Amino acid sequence: MNWQNGLTQLLGITYPIIQAPMLGVTTPEMVAAVSNLGGLGSLPVGGLSPEKTLALIKKTKSLTQRPFAVNLFAHDVPTDASAFAHAQSMAEYLEELAQKHSVAFQSQPISDFQFYSYRDQVQVLLDEQIQIVSFTFGILADEIIALFKEKGVVLIGTATCVKEAQILEEKGVDAITAQGIEAGGHRGSFLADVELPQIGSIALIPQMADQVSIPILASGGINDGRTIRAAFILGAAAVQIGTAFIASSESSAIPAYKAALKVAKDTDTVLTRNFSGRFARGIQNEFMREVDVEVKQSGRIIPQYPIQNSLTTALRAESQKQNNAQFTNLWSGQSVYRGTGVSSADVFNDLVRQTEQLKSF
Ligand SMILES: Cc1cc2nc3c(=O)[nH]c(=O)nc-3n(C[C@H](O)[C@H](O)[C@H](O)COP(=O)(O)O)c2cc1C
Repeated sequence: MNWQNGLTQLLGITYPIIQAPMLGVTTPEMVAAVSNLGGLGSLPVGGLSPEKTLALIKKTKSLTQRPFAVNLFAHDVPTDASAFAHAQSMAEYLEELAQKHSVAFQSQPISDFQFYSYRDQVQVLLDEQIQIVSFTFGILADEIIALFKEKGVVLIGTATCVKEAQILEEKGVDAITAQGIEAGGHRGSFLADVELPQIGSIALIPQMADQVSIPILASGGINDGRTIRAAFILGAAAVQIGTAFIASSESSAIPAYKAALKVAKDTDTVLTRNFSGRFARGIQNEFMREVDVEVKQSGRIIPQYPIQNSLTTALRAESQKQNNAQFTNLWSGQSVYRGTGVSSADVFNDLVRQTEQLKSF
């Protein structure tokens, strides 16, 4: 099977299989494992401090000589006081909820929250001569796109509908991740004037491929050889796979999260704003259910991203410390990995093997 195409050449990789950036799950070891086998590992650094960003890049570089992508969050950080209007009420509710379920945490005053913008990280990426930058949650500012382009950096934006893809193409990105509604984790949607796009990969990939002229990376619901082949048939130049790597040995997911993935059914995930203030797909758990009831019954308002994300950080950390899957996010797509791979390299090799063994038609 010939895996090579224009995108593999642009990225300098052997297989057009990209390990999706997954903040909170992906480690430098996972990134390196995939890049070392000729795929593209993606290092997530969205919202992290410049110091942490640098440390993660350096660690990844120490493990691989091959290309890898660094992934940014392109949203604006909140500066307006009105964004915090409902934060105190939510903080009080979260403390009560945590007490009730024995996951009490040390709360941080809201005035101490610190939000980093991708603008704080750009210089680190340039200094480290990162050659591939992917991003989600919006569009990088024009001057930042120009800075990266000047250095020959390959830019990959994320779109969840055709209109977003067209805007990204006009802005000059080199490729687009088409994120179908099946995808685990946060929606990359960024249009303020349309309802959250909820288009499945089978509908999204061909429509996007028809209406933009740059390569499409298919993302969402891809978990085996059949779905990889299907994505290429639908018009994708590469696949970006997240959920399949979460239970691998290099992942930093807690054991209870990995165990939940092993038995997850097609109906187990839902979209929620409860953890972060932004829609994301994960396996439904007690936290999601209780906050849903609270919002419905008391009218309590969930602050916007990333404020809600910061409000739930300590609770999620405590839940993880206890290996409790009920009060932390279990981001997952609608299709989990059913193969036998244990390490990230096993999973990657298994996906390649399955795809090659399928008869083309
Ligand atoms: C745990 C988790 C964390 C994620 N974090 C990020 C992230 O930091 N940046 C990003 O661009 N996408 C992120 N995503 C979305 C993935 O890039 C990708 O769209 C998704 O995993 C593809 O669908 P799949 O999970 O069905 O393979 C995340 C997904 C998961 C499951």
